[in-house]
Amino acid sequence: MRRERIKIDLLIHDLKVPLAVIEAGLTSMMNRQEKYGPITEKQERVFKRALRNTKVLKTLVGDALELGRSREGIVFFSNFPLADLIKETLVEILDLTDTVISEKLRKCENLMHFKKTLEEKGIILSIDEALWGQKIRQDETKIKQILRNLLNNALKYRKSRVALNVNCERGFVIFSVQDDGAGIPAAYHKKIFDCYFQLDATSTCNVRGHGLGLAGVMVLVEDMGGEMLLNSDEGQGAKFIVKIPLMVDT
Ligand SMILES: Nc1ncnc2c1ncn2[C@@H]1O[C@H](COP(=O)(O)OP(=O)(O)O)[C@@H](O)[C@H]1O
Ligand SMILES: [Mg+2]
Repeated sequence: MRRERIKIDLLIHDLKVPLAVIEAGLTSMMNRQEKYGPITEKQERVFKRALRNTKVLKTLVGDALELGRSREGIVFFSNFPLADLIKETLVEILDLTDTVISEKLRKCENLMHFKKTLEEKGIILSIDEALWGQKIRQDETKIKQILRNLLNNALKYRKSRVALNVNCERGFVIFSVQDDGAGIPAAYHKKIFDCYFQLDATSTCNVRGHGLGLAGVMVLVEDMGGEMLLNSDEGQGAKFIVKIPLMVDT
């Protein structure tokens, strides 16, 4: 590993401890008022906002570390149910903007109920019942990071709907994330995977993105031996398709 890379990774890693201290402090003040004294409703709102942002920051730190690991060829394979991966990713994303829905999703016991609840947020999930119950073998953290970024973008740029499709075929798992937003003109289809590129850097969006964006997603997909495709015409929404090879059980 290059010296510069190690320095950056160490720095990112060292952000974890102070972050954990901030999170623990805020949580204690909110949940242990008998010890720390009562807080007002207004104060609680501020605490909650601060805590949400601590979570965003924790995810960012985790994502940055994962990217560094990925570049060094480090993978961690495990067997995990697709249902857990999809559920945890969506709960985590929505928790930052709508805690009521994310709590509802967390409690869903079956696919039908989960789909219905997602529809309240304009998110359409398509996956076979059989596939939902299936376990796959891959690097779960990396796939979660990919999905989180694509879904956050879709939610940020959509007009009203986002569709998530999940399929398995011939040793691959295929995720497609589609929105009905302004889309991406063909001239930018390559550029948007460059670091720090934004189509319209001046636009104000009501939902902020987090994670390291499409450039990071591309790195992870390639490191896993997968591929990512973009289908989009201006004004027609965008569809990102990610195809990841599955590992065979050992
Ligand atoms: N679903 C989408 N619809 C339209 N434009 C998109 C979409 N996803 C990404 N983009 C464009 O690609 C750029 C890069 O995306 P990304 O790397 O995730 O960065 P960020 O979300 O932080 O702006 C975005 O700024 C936006 O211009
Ligand atoms: Mg983004």
